[in-house]
Amino acid sequence: MQSSIRAQGSSSIWDGIYTEAQAVRGEEEYAARCASCHSVDLRGNSNSPSLLGLSFMFIWEGRTLGELFGKVSTEMPTDQPGSLSLQSYAAILAFILKKNEFPAGSSELSTNDAVLNQILITSEGAAN
Ligand code: HEC
Repeated sequence: MQSSIRAQGSSSIWDGIYTEAQAVRGEEEYAARCASCHSVDLRGNSNSPSLLGLSFMFIWEGRTLGELFGKVSTEMPTDQPGSLSLQSYAAILAFILKKNEFPAGSSELSTNDAVLNQILITSEGAAN
């Protein structure tokens, strides 16, 4: 399973696929639209999952940012799914990536599915 998924991704979340400025914008949107359930520190609460670290990677490892973006942009916030702009969802995703200590780079995270589907979520890459 992993190998076929891996082959799709031509880049990974270690390649600097969002910008610092985008994550800063995302932090504000996150605070306004997501923190009520996932908490300000992204650790979640008794009803909503943590968006950080191992518990997050356990679910998303080996999948693509396209899948994560698709889930967030169509299902979150659960009380008003799809209510933000795609730019806002991308900025929030940039913020979540930053909090998970994936590196920022020089180009903004795209809202384009075809691009996002190429970006692999993996914990391998820190050492390279
Ligand atoms: C009203 C509460 C609520 C709000 C607001 C909310 N979420 Fe969620 N979120 C949930 C619940 C409950 C789940 C778990 C069920 C599911 O995966 O659909 C979840 C799941 C997720 C997941 C999947 C986590 C995993 O481990 O699979 C992500 C990513 C996520 N939310 C991001 C966001 C973002 C980004 C926002 C803001 C735009 C947001 N959520 C707003 C309740 C909320």
